[in-house]
Amino acid sequence: MKTVKIVILMILLVVAGCSSGSDDTGPQVGGPSDDIDPGGSDDDNPDNDDDDVPVVGPFVYDATEDLKNVASFPIGNIVSASKLASTSTANTTFKQILNTEYNSITAENDMKMANMFTGPDTYDFSDGDAIVAYAKENGHRVHGHALIWHQSIPNWLNNFTGTDEEFEAQVEGYVKATVAHFAEAEDDDGNPIVASWDVVNEYFDGSSVRSSLFTQRIGNDFHEKAFQWAREADPDVKLFYNDYNIAGQVDKRNAIISMVNNFITNSIPIDGIGMQMHLNHDWPSSDLPTSIQAISDTGLLVHISELDVKVNYGDDITELTEERAAAQEFQYQRAGYYYSTIVPPAQQFGLTLWGFRDQDSWLYDGGSDWPLLYDNDFNTKISHRGLVAGLNEENPE
Ligand code: XIL
Repeated sequence: MKTVKIVILMILLVVAGCSSGSDDTGPQVGGPSDDIDPGGSDDDNPDNDDDDVPVVGPFVYDATEDLKNVASFPIGNIVSASKLASTSTANTTFKQILNTEYNSITAENDMKMANMFTGPDTYDFSDGDAIVAYAKENGHRVHGHALIWHQSIPNWLNNFTGTDEEFEAQVEGYVKATVAHFAEAEDDDGNPIVASWDVVNEYFDGSSVRSSLFTQRIGNDFHEKAFQWAREADPDVKLFYNDYNIAGQVDKRNAIISMVNNFITNSIPIDGIGMQMHLNHDWPSSDLPTSIQAISDTGLLVHISELDVKVNYGDDITELTEERAAAQEFQYQRAGYYYSTIVPPAQQFGLTLWGFRDQDSWLYDGGSDWPLLYDNDFNTKISHRGLVAGLNEENPE
């Protein structure tokens, strides 16, 4: 009986996966939402051990392979300086997994503008420095995230009363000072620890330029200036444009590809594109490989920069179900598989997950979604098995 159920489920999943319905109209996750705290400090409580959070369900397995050993490119996840400094039981486990399964780290919030740009010509790089020091000690690469994002603007800059020229000079100074500062850290062989930066995050709103403080004060070309400032500060660091729904929203993707092609034509420095990849268990379907192919065709580096897979987008379940856990496993496998097999190795910058335990996710929503690879006790979920299979190039379809 159980076997019959599994076979039916698999057929349903294959049919769903093959449907070439318009992904453009699918649910859109990962974008800005009103309840995001730009400073992000709430999610950063290092002692968020919460031993009383229940294990979410039986959808876990005994992993035998570590992500970074399966992939032929870097595998990343997010950190905060406070979690790295914490010796709580949960954070000790977190660091063990970080060092066994991953070789690249991104600051979830600590290296954003609101956290570093403390006042006019004044910076606080201490959290980023702690992350870089940890990376150096434990052999991780650091991906810098993110120099300019409309959701992470310090209050003083939001309220800046100087002229537009003075505003632009502040942003230019910040981009250059930040990139130059983090270019200094090197490993024992003289290689930079901070390999890359998301220079501009989420410039587009759909296929239009998003109106933001930066477009209002600097102009719609602030993004081009930002890439040039970053390049002036460091001739070698890889410069990325990062955005959500590049998979799933065709108009937006095309706008991004046009922007990138204009950059290339006009010699504006850019090395790569970050596809955030905040997915749903059933979205996108056919547009996932299509989008990876289209981004890859730009010839730039491709980074899956913030992978997670929501299973309760429609708020129709109250606990993780067998069907959703299987669909999530399938979607993780598809992400890993298409990235591994479509992007030429020389363009594979890496794949970064956006969190560890479900309860750590920015999408946890008080316990009503389970988007990640580990349950609240750090057990590997079957979603982890899916990603391992995808990275092993096992075709999910
Ligand atoms: C999120 C963090 O995970 C949260 O802790 C914070 O409150 C808001 O930002 N796209 C991005 C990331 O580029 O920086 C966002 O991270 C998630 C969406």
